[in-house]
Parts: sequence; structure tokens; C-alpha cells
Amino acid sequence: INITIEDRNGEQQPVEIPEEISLSLMEVLKASGYNILATCGGMALCATCHVQVLKGLDNLPAAGNDEMDMLDTLPDAGFDSRLACQIRMSENLNGMVFKIRGDEQ
Ligand code: FES
Repeated sequence: INITIEDRNGEQQPVEIPEEISLSLMEVLKASGYNILATCGGMALCATCHVQVLKGLDNLPAAGNDEMDMLDTLPDAGFDSRLACQIRMSENLNGMVFKIRGDEQ
């Protein structure tokens, strides 16, 4: 699976994930060295894993209720905002571009 990540400074980097891996995008971002707090550990409760989908939003299943409720608390969330911990890695994500928006500390 090949995706592109844009960091908080606007720099884009390709990230490659083995197909067989069962992780969330939040876990992949952390493992790839991005500074994601993920205070709640992936429970859709902290919103520090907020990402904006720059390309490929249609490839994702609709956000669940928990995710929607948490995104609603973010003043800077848009229609293309998602929680990275609620996105499971799958080949549907191929070619997608995500921008990291969550707080750094
Ligand atoms: Fe807390 Fe995603 S890690 S909401």
C-alpha cells in the first residue's frame, strides 16, 4: 500500500506499508516517525490523530458515530477531516494523500 503524508510544515513524503499489515493509519504514522500524540490510544476520544484527506476521500468508508462526534469538537475540522486511528490500512488506501492536522503537544 502506497500513501503520501503531508506533515505540519507542508512537506509530502511517500509511505509504503506491507499489504498484510493490520494497523490503523495512526499506528502507521507513529511507526513512520511522525509526531502523533494519540493520547487515547486509538479510541476516537482525543482527536490528536486528526488528519485531512487531501486525495481519495471516496475510498474510505463513512466515519462512524464516535469519530463524527469527536470531529465535531474540532474547530478546524472540515468535510475531509478524519481520525487516523479509525482508518484501517487496506489496499483501498492506495494513492491516498493525508495531511497531519492534530496537535503536536
Ligand atoms: Fe485518539 Fe485517534 S488516537 S482519537
